[in-house]
Amino acid sequence: VVTRDACIARDAADELAALRNSFTLPPNMIYLLGNSLGPLPRSAPAHFQRVVQDEWGAHLIGGWNLSWYDEPTRLGERIATLIGAGPGEVVVADSTSINLMKVVYAAIEQQRSDGRILVGYEAGLFPTDIYVASSVARSVGGSAVALDIVDGELPDLPDGLGAMVLSHVDYRSGRLLGMRALTKQLHDRGVLAIWDLSHSVGALPVQLDDCEADYAVGCTYKYLNAGPGAPAFVFVRDRLLASTRVLPEGWFAHREPFAMSPSFAASDDIRRLLVGTPSVVACAGLHASLDIFDSTDIAKLRAKSLALTDLFTEVVTATSSDVDVVTPMDPDVRGSHITLRHESAYPIVRALIDRGVVCDFRAPDGMRFGFAPLYLRHVDAYDAAVAVVDVIRSETWRDPRYAMRETVT
Ligand SMILES: Cc1ncc(COP(=O)(O)O)c(C=O)c1O
Repeated sequence: VVTRDACIARDAADELAALRNSFTLPPNMIYLLGNSLGPLPRSAPAHFQRVVQDEWGAHLIGGWNLSWYDEPTRLGERIATLIGAGPGEVVVADSTSINLMKVVYAAIEQQRSDGRILVGYEAGLFPTDIYVASSVARSVGGSAVALDIVDGELPDLPDGLGAMVLSHVDYRSGRLLGMRALTKQLHDRGVLAIWDLSHSVGALPVQLDDCEADYAVGCTYKYLNAGPGAPAFVFVRDRLLASTRVLPEGWFAHREPFAMSPSFAASDDIRRLLVGTPSVVACAGLHASLDIFDSTDIAKLRAKSLALTDLFTEVVTATSSDVDVVTPMDPDVRGSHITLRHESAYPIVRALIDRGVVCDFRAPDGMRFGFAPLYLRHVDAYDAAVAVVDVIRSETWRDPRYAMRETVT
């Protein structure tokens, strides 16, 4: 097994190591939840300060003409470079749940004239995606069906299926799906592919155009480090844009919002995916984080993420047989977090957090460890693995205070 000294040597040779200095990370903490909420970029407070003090404070409503109005598309263009999208295919707005609602509705609208009003979703999808897919399908007289993807293969698809929602990386297991093959299989059967990139964007290369994905959504507060509640993004394949109808039709999607016309006419461009006024202040955090991505390369980040998840898993499994590794270790199907299973996962996670190893619990028995390659070191992966084994072996997790549930787990 690799030694701690070898990990220190790997960090010394790591060309991405300096990127860690771009973030505020509390001392004595190994932060393994960048897959849930990324840390604060050091430059973010200055970006917030600029928007709040220099723009809002000095210009008041003039800020809209200064730069605010175009923030959704400006940020969309920046995110496009991380997800293999072209100009005019991505916009930043609302939450992932709301953006998913827009594109599921749009997809079914495209398909319903062929009698396709069923929405498929990958069994085990993040709950909000299931709720959104089901409620939108119901609202158009259809329904949503869970479909099991086994070994990267779709099952037989039901007649009447119009669209399918898939998660690129599974939030629970960390399994990565083959976007190209699955999108093609869906297209061969006349089904539109909607991808949730929340757990892949910023951690691994995504090639939406190349894979011919139809629609995609994703969070910016995870690996994109834009801050709690920062707006999400939505992607529409250029060939589908003109036929994409969005519900609700809001004034920011209007071709001429300030004509104040009582009738709606959708914008010709990606702005038709907007609804109302964007969260300008929250957008500042996303700019700060994307500046850091601009200074590096997603292929290098992916290589480091794989090295970190390999290292962590290797040390845990070589020194303990008390946990099962849920995440597939084949790099072709592995995301950027590792999930371990243990029947006492909840108190183990609480004990780890107490030791400064910040990870989380996913019911019923999962422990998630996110390895964000922008700021984590090899030695962090090593120390975290040693802590996991030690907490289990020493049974410190049996302390009754670790059994108490917190609101957010
Ligand atoms: C895969 C996935 N999709 C969607 C969401 C929900 O995003 P939001 O709360 O921004 O709507 C999350 C949140 O963690 C997620 O992990």
